[in-house]
Amino acid sequence: MSIAYNEAAKTITIQTVETEYQMAIDRYGCLRHVYYGRTVGGEDLRELHRSYDRGFSGSPYRAGSDRAYSLDTVCQEFSSCGVGDFRVPSLGVQNADGSRCAELRYVSHEIRAGKYSLPGLPAAWDPDGSAETLEIILRDPVTGLTVRLLYGVFPERNVITRTAIYENGGAEPIVLEKAGSVCLELPFGSWDLLHFHGRHCLERKPERLPVMNGVQTVGSRRGMSSHEHNPFLILCDRQATEDHGECIGLMYLWSGSFRAEVEREQFGSVRAVLSPGDESFRWTLAPGERFAAPEVLLSRAEGLTRLSQQFHRMVRENVCRGEYRLAHRPVLINSWEAAYFDIRADRILDLARRAADLGMELFVLDDGWFHGRTDDNAGLGDWFENREKLPEGLDSLIRGIRETGLLFGLWVEPEMVSENSDLYRAHPDWALAVPDRAPMLGRNQLVLDLSRREVQDYIIEAMSGLLERYDISYVKWDFNRSVSDLYSHTLPAERQGEAGHRYVLGLYRVLETLTARFPGVLFEGCSGGGGRFDAGMLYYTPQIWCSDDTDPIERLTIQGGTSYGYPISTMGAHVSASPNHQTGRTTPLQTRGYVAMSGAFGYELDLAKLSEGELEEIRHQIQHFRQDEALLQQGLYYRLDEFTEAQDASAWLFVSEDRSRALLNVVVRSPHANAPLIHLKLKGLDPDARYAMEEDDAVRSGAALMYGGYTLPQLIGDYPAVQLHLKKID
Ligand code: GLA
Repeated sequence: MSIAYNEAAKTITIQTVETEYQMAIDRYGCLRHVYYGRTVGGEDLRELHRSYDRGFSGSPYRAGSDRAYSLDTVCQEFSSCGVGDFRVPSLGVQNADGSRCAELRYVSHEIRAGKYSLPGLPAAWDPDGSAETLEIILRDPVTGLTVRLLYGVFPERNVITRTAIYENGGAEPIVLEKAGSVCLELPFGSWDLLHFHGRHCLERKPERLPVMNGVQTVGSRRGMSSHEHNPFLILCDRQATEDHGECIGLMYLWSGSFRAEVEREQFGSVRAVLSPGDESFRWTLAPGERFAAPEVLLSRAEGLTRLSQQFHRMVRENVCRGEYRLAHRPVLINSWEAAYFDIRADRILDLARRAADLGMELFVLDDGWFHGRTDDNAGLGDWFENREKLPEGLDSLIRGIRETGLLFGLWVEPEMVSENSDLYRAHPDWALAVPDRAPMLGRNQLVLDLSRREVQDYIIEAMSGLLERYDISYVKWDFNRSVSDLYSHTLPAERQGEAGHRYVLGLYRVLETLTARFPGVLFEGCSGGGGRFDAGMLYYTPQIWCSDDTDPIERLTIQGGTSYGYPISTMGAHVSASPNHQTGRTTPLQTRGYVAMSGAFGYELDLAKLSEGELEEIRHQIQHFRQDEALLQQGLYYRLDEFTEAQDASAWLFVSEDRSRALLNVVVRSPHANAPLIHLKLKGLDPDARYAMEEDDAVRSGAALMYGGYTLPQLIGDYPAVQLHLKKID
């Protein structure tokens, strides 16, 4: 059993293989957080939390003369609001009498086999049946607001999932102004916050800062998880490195606006709260109604590398679903950077023939194929073929592509509408807009109101129509602007604060329906590249286009940053043209290949413009990729930048789970004359085994490669890269 209740001490202890989590019900009915860290063997750790008498931290009335007891200083499993805890609250409420408080007291708990589910929301699942659930009921004695805390324990993964379900158990409506999913208290230690920020074309750049006194917030108000701030963060010991030190990650299975607040309070204790929505979030709970907050994955490890590996495994095997979750992903050619809006059947077929000849497996017809779509000002919403561009029809084009031996995939952006479209002319009120205000345009398009059932149904039927009518194996689901002007015509005034959240629930319903209806189709998520790269979307689309920036040197930062939480198999990465279309940088085809292979691999360039030599190189690249694919997609991933940063290089390594094979990747970011040696130490090998290196015929021990390291031959030229293969021989 990974969850145990100690009746005498009133502690609940969760154990995974390497971590332990403890909470306790105290004498005033408060559910206290006791411990999250390395396994200590189930001991009662309550004595860690002595209480001192604190000025200006008052005591609950019922505590009487117990002045050392204050909700403002105790570590709480899920903090109350408005009743004497002045730190970041887990929830915010407005009660029917106008008061803004809730005191959550322990009522009961239950431990059961299997992982709870969250209907309508993405949630980690448990294919091998080893997970367990802990459910704890907290209640406000005055209003009857009930919060069910859910914990899903995945012992082998060292992951605990968490969320909270809010229920109005009283007789009056309650407005939730904040509905946190998780509250995590870290009472001791000095912590850094590692978060992943950026912008369009530079997503998920790591930034590590000391947790300051006060509150640090990252989040999104864009209705999407956003390019700017990813819903994944790490709290790590100030001394933590890739290999050592306490590291705790929180990953949100949520694709909408969010808030992640990290507070260091007066005595140095740190609290993190993750909640959906922004300041405009309001959700009315009528008596008997429920609200389920999205799920969070919580994991803890020694060192950032191990933490990443735990998340990789969890996301790949327990978040992603469907036939492609662990299967070979077809090497694709995408038409976007090859042709942009210039979609002509002869040009597309020519590209497909060339791609097939090189060993690619899937042709993706990107933007520009549908009715009215000559540029990005028109057509969104009208999901039928553009007869001017494709006079013989889409069907005939697909047949032609299938005859080359390639599978066929299609780009769509179903959540959007152009004003210049039949859909908008028929249903102008389906677009999000506030009455009497002209809405913001983004890429000259509007956002459909996915909180409305009829809009969801329209998208489901329009997409099902395409998938039934045509021979489609892959869908790229794009989303190319932020959500603004949140106002839904079907919600009453007092419920408008629900529109943004309901939008995301609507999106999830659409994706759930389509992925269940078409299980053989590979869905790839996208949002101007990686603007909605989150574990919520990965539940429906096992890969996401990582960034619109395809420059391999920029991708080192983007994919490297993404690797802290998300596995390689989820990151769409393509070899594109050189000079690169976004940066103008010229890089070798080999470098572009090596970087894209550390992702869901494909190509996105006009093959007709390449020389015979380049085509031959691509043919070999694809063959090599196939040989290494399992290692790349499922091997343990090690960032090696700590050794290479000083040399302006990036390095990363894949090691098979049984340590029999490894693949080292190095890219020089900035070549220098008379450069220092590029030396790095490998990781994760068997120290006692001997490894042959394919590229130089030498044999070295795992110990020599890990402790002595490896010095690369001199690399010169523009952005050179190497891949080195190691195979255990005895
Ligand atoms: C977004 C995507 C690109 C491409 C274009 C098409 O920007 O991220 O890959 O599909 O849209 O308009």
